[in-house]
Amino acid sequence: MTGARPSGPLFRRASTVPMFTYSNQQHLSPRAIKAYLDNYVIGQEHAKMVIAVAVYNHYLRAQNLEDRKRRMRKDFDSRLRSDAIIEDIPDESVQPTQPKAFFVAEAEEDDTPVLEKTNVLLLGPTGSGKTLLMQTVAKVLGVPFAMVDCTSLTQAGYIGDDVDICIQRLLASADYDVEKAEFGIVVLDECDKLAKPARVGFSSTKDISGEGVQQALLQMLEGSTVTVTRKSGTAGQTKESYTVNTNNILFVLSGAFVGLENIIEERVSDKHAIGFKAVPGSAAMGKFFMPSNAHVLNYVEVQDLTKYGMIPELVGRIPHISPLLPLSEADMLRIITEPKNSIMKQYEHSFKMFGVELKFTTPALQALAKSALEQGTGARGLKGIMARLLLNVNYELPESSTKYVLVTENVVKTFMNTNESDRARPFYFSRGEQYKFLNELASENQVAQALLVESQTRDRNGESVSGQDEDEPTPQRVGFIE
Ligand SMILES: Nc1ncnc2c1ncn2[C@@H]1O[C@H](COP(=O)(O)OP(=O)(O)OP(=O)(O)O)[C@@H](O)[C@H]1O
Ligand SMILES: [Mg+2]
Repeated sequence: MTGARPSGPLFRRASTVPMFTYSNQQHLSPRAIKAYLDNYVIGQEHAKMVIAVAVYNHYLRAQNLEDRKRRMRKDFDSRLRSDAIIEDIPDESVQPTQPKAFFVAEAEEDDTPVLEKTNVLLLGPTGSGKTLLMQTVAKVLGVPFAMVDCTSLTQAGYIGDDVDICIQRLLASADYDVEKAEFGIVVLDECDKLAKPARVGFSSTKDISGEGVQQALLQMLEGSTVTVTRKSGTAGQTKESYTVNTNNILFVLSGAFVGLENIIEERVSDKHAIGFKAVPGSAAMGKFFMPSNAHVLNYVEVQDLTKYGMIPELVGRIPHISPLLPLSEADMLRIITEPKNSIMKQYEHSFKMFGVELKFTTPALQALAKSALEQGTGARGLKGIMARLLLNVNYELPESSTKYVLVTENVVKTFMNTNESDRARPFYFSRGEQYKFLNELASENQVAQALLVESQTRDRNGESVSGQDEDEPTPQRVGFIE
């Protein structure tokens, strides 16, 4: 993001007013931010709400602090004016003029509460949308925004970036306007990579890229002043220094924390004796049970993160921990088609540019979602599968007479499961075959629709779903008892 003025979609109409004024706040609400995020990020409803509220409250805080500053300035000015009058009319009966600092101190006794910031930690499996969520927030906001990958950070004085890089980037995104940068948002991505070595399995006497960085970040989160130097001039010979106070910068940390589930489970299982019940004789005996709609990450607590290798002082300064949950097959299906910039929309558009209409049948999309899920890399896997699946088509079609391409379930399934010679090829149709193309598309979709209706009717009538033995009891899930 460049430029410090509000420029995101939520601020389009307010682009000429400075940041944090009432007029641009009128367009802003947690609901509006969440609605914008919904266009790009599928599922993860709770995390989207957390971020929407955090960002909104950040605006309010900024507003609150600006108002206080304005009131102080006004108060100071008016006292200064009366001071001047007093000085102009010497009168024995008037009290001697107070030093100016007195007025500042008095103005500071504003009794409106100062809103404190609420830093956020997003955690959840790889490819579940953590980085995407914050990148999308960056697009919508008009505040300076910087995203830093913690993997490259080292303690000051060692090769690598020290934590001041966060402020350097933030300041650059605020066009070197210190006052604006001081109300910016810094995202510390991949922060789990800073976990202490004991946890990540290597040892070193001095942990310059883990704990050392966490300590440095701690100071920044607490509120410190960072001096940033900017080189300017054609040969970079001029150096300008900027001092940024980090007190009001909102920090969002995000990381996958691979293996954290085990730590949570271990902790909760210890409680098991008093709080959890397992179903005797079930395969899951000895493991703890959760309500069926819950996920183990929902039970994360500060102690789990410290056990993982984060220092308690740092985690303690992040009041809001929000887990992103693994994506389901249904989420994956929506991710392929729904986001404004979905992978499907991108391919359809690029094919249209060379005059070809590309369509996937619904079962083909379902097969695609399933395969992506099986890769275990979240939605990140989709891009690769799609690129490989459409490579030949993309290679051949730009100079052919084909006008329509249909990818069916069989094409996806055989592509994923068999070697190249056994793969089904997508269907190609020429200019005059639009009807045939649409008919083929509709017929696979209709068959799928009919199968769906059939299975729903079976479910409603209480008949067994294929492959499931009716006599076998469904594993009972026992709730979380505190
Ligand atoms: N919830 C989602 N909605 C829409 N697209 C998603 C979602 N999650 C992931 N994606 C897609 O997958 C890609 C990778 O996701 P992202 O970079 O946000 O993963 P991450 O959670 O940050 O993972 P990691 O921990 O590995 O960094 C995104 O660019 C996006 O295309
Ligand atoms: Mg990421």
